[in-house]
Amino acid sequence: MSKRLYIKTYGCQMNVYDSERISDTMKTLGYRAANEMADADLIVLNTCHIREKAAEKIYSELGRIRAIKADRSRAGKKTIVAVAGCVAQAEGAEIVRRAPVVDIVVGPQSFQNLTHLVFRAEQEGRHVIDTSFPADGKFEQLPKIRAPKSCTAFLTVQEGCDKFCTFCVVPYTRGVEYSRTPEELIVEARGLIENGVQELTLLGQNVNAYHGKAEDGSTWTLANLLDRLAQFPGLKRLRYTTSHPNDMTDDLIDAHRNNPKLMPYLHLPFQSGSDRILAAMNRKHTVEEYCAIIRRLRNARPDIALSTDVIVGFPGETDEEFNATMKLIEDIGFAQAYSFKYSSRPGTPAAAMENHVPEEVKAERLAKLQSLLSAQQSAFNAACVGSQVPVLFERPGREQGQLVGRSPYLQAVHVDDCLAHTNAIVDVVISGASRNSLTGVIKKTPALASCKE
Ligand code: SAH
Ligand code: SF4
Ligand code: F3S
Repeated sequence: MSKRLYIKTYGCQMNVYDSERISDTMKTLGYRAANEMADADLIVLNTCHIREKAAEKIYSELGRIRAIKADRSRAGKKTIVAVAGCVAQAEGAEIVRRAPVVDIVVGPQSFQNLTHLVFRAEQEGRHVIDTSFPADGKFEQLPKIRAPKSCTAFLTVQEGCDKFCTFCVVPYTRGVEYSRTPEELIVEARGLIENGVQELTLLGQNVNAYHGKAEDGSTWTLANLLDRLAQFPGLKRLRYTTSHPNDMTDDLIDAHRNNPKLMPYLHLPFQSGSDRILAAMNRKHTVEEYCAIIRRLRNARPDIALSTDVIVGFPGETDEEFNATMKLIEDIGFAQAYSFKYSSRPGTPAAAMENHVPEEVKAERLAKLQSLLSAQQSAFNAACVGSQVPVLFERPGREQGQLVGRSPYLQAVHVDDCLAHTNAIVDVVISGASRNSLTGVIKKTPALASCKE
């Protein structure tokens, strides 16, 4: 009987991509997906270290896993527990000290070694830790073929970060900025598209800093890569995330005008609406520079919808500085956003700054900010009612007969229509909107025959 693997993924989309690659790697040893943790011979937690809460969640999950492992052991079954991802990188051996149930600790740059690590953990019966940053790329060591789960897929094109925002752990957990070559990305994209992928989201901690060295010695920008990928006839939609304002180059902004497959939606974090806070965060741009980028983007693609990340309560943030963040949100208008209370991360420069904002002030500011963002998101969705949008249907919804897809603006669209089928882009007339999703009916065309009961 084949062995079973259960992966629980936390954090950003890069972790979602990595989890898929971990499962591809383990497939080479015959591991198949388990439906439940209790059925798994290998449990992997692919973790996130970005905020304190994210990291602490892992230890409570490990408490539950200890009970599962003990139950399985009583039934004569062995269980290997691996902690992967950014907590693994940041905490290393400390994890097995705090949670001896863990057999393997493996960082985001070394999970391609997981097959060997599992073998060693089984043979040696002791903890194995690999948080190295190998000189030769991990991507070359991963299986070339990916089996996409649906008609949309992530493709990591860039990893790591050299920007060192003072609040952020990513440069420490993911390492220096690295771009994969255009050739290897084209091969991976082609494989996905041949297996039915119609929408690709290119990923990177700073995806728009992409600079891939091609075999002919030229350097490709993200816009070059998007252009090349758009040439695959089977590929219908392209997206990319997450971008840094300072890497929003002219050619990338032009791509929003000229590349018809690039969706009119951009996630562009601004973090704070105060120049003083932005400087303390080491973001290296001002509020006006951010606004100028948005103007250029809207000029290139008037219907572009925006999403962002915001932090409230960075050390020293005053009420006026927080109000400047509120004002920037009002001025720009976002279709969607992620907002966070500043969380002090050990080892980052901001953690050592003075005047940390009291928790209750942070909570109050976050509530105010989220009510503004939520009103903007509701208004953006409500404005879609009555319009017709092309929806790529990905999967069945929670209710029977329901299908869920995405609009070009990444809104979830639910339809309850016998004409709908997954893996197709179909025009939908939007009939209802809530803060988080839209509902609609499929536009009837002669090509779409009517339903037969
Ligand atoms: N590379 C991306 C974001 C990576 S982390 C960028 O530069 O925009 C995702 C988001 O988490 C960040 O944009 C930021 O808003 C938030 N974040 C990162 N560190 C944080 C911290 N210490 N406290 C609170 N939020 C944080
Ligand atoms: Fe973190 Fe800043 Fe790098 Fe984004 S750009 S990953 S926030 S250090
Ligand atoms: Fe978290 Fe690591 Fe992503 S810290 S946000 S999983 S890069």
